[in-house]
Amino acid sequence: MTERVKVLIPQEEVEKRADEIAARINRDYEGKSLHLICILKGSVFFTAELAKRLTIPVTMDFMSCSSYGSGTVSKGIVKLVKDLDEPIEGRDVLVIEDIVDSGNTLSYLLGLLADRKPASLALCTLLDKPARRVKKDVVVDYCGFEIEDHFVVGCGMDYDQRYRNLPYVGIMELEGE
Ligand code: IMP
Ligand code: MG
Repeated sequence: MTERVKVLIPQEEVEKRADEIAARINRDYEGKSLHLICILKGSVFFTAELAKRLTIPVTMDFMSCSSYGSGTVSKGIVKLVKDLDEPIEGRDVLVIEDIVDSGNTLSYLLGLLADRKPASLALCTLLDKPARRVKKDVVVDYCGFEIEDHFVVGCGMDYDQRYRNLPYVGIMELEGE
């Protein structure tokens, strides 16, 4: 089977969008400190892109959960693999994701985080695939790009743990199945 990656969103567009979203976040949280929560591993790259553009005081923490197997189809079961290091009670929290697909992961994670009583809780994602949403309660506050129902890689997103380091978003094409 041959794997091919076709560019969907070039690096320059991703970076330009990161500029725009960071500017909005800087405005929205003016006078406050923001606690960024990076969802490992996929959102590492986008979190870094955003964080280095933020001028408000920022702290960061990381959590990890699994909802996908090794292929391209969600199992719908979310498991917490690594919890945060620090409490979030009373803090302004922004969760950063690579992509919201069914919404299963974020529905579970946002519920878990809301129970810890942050001062505010918002969600930022590089990509949103609204056509695939199962969990309608997931509200995206900052969205990079809405995309069609493609399986994508790059900018942190993987296919069997590969391609995360591509600096653009590409469509994963599998030929000869
Ligand atoms: P959800 O729980 O179905 O919303 O899926 C969320 C997670 O699945 C994302 O954080 C990604 O890690 C992964 N995922 C969903 N769609 C894609 C894709 O097109 N490419 C790579 N990973 C994806
Ligand atoms: Mg992810």
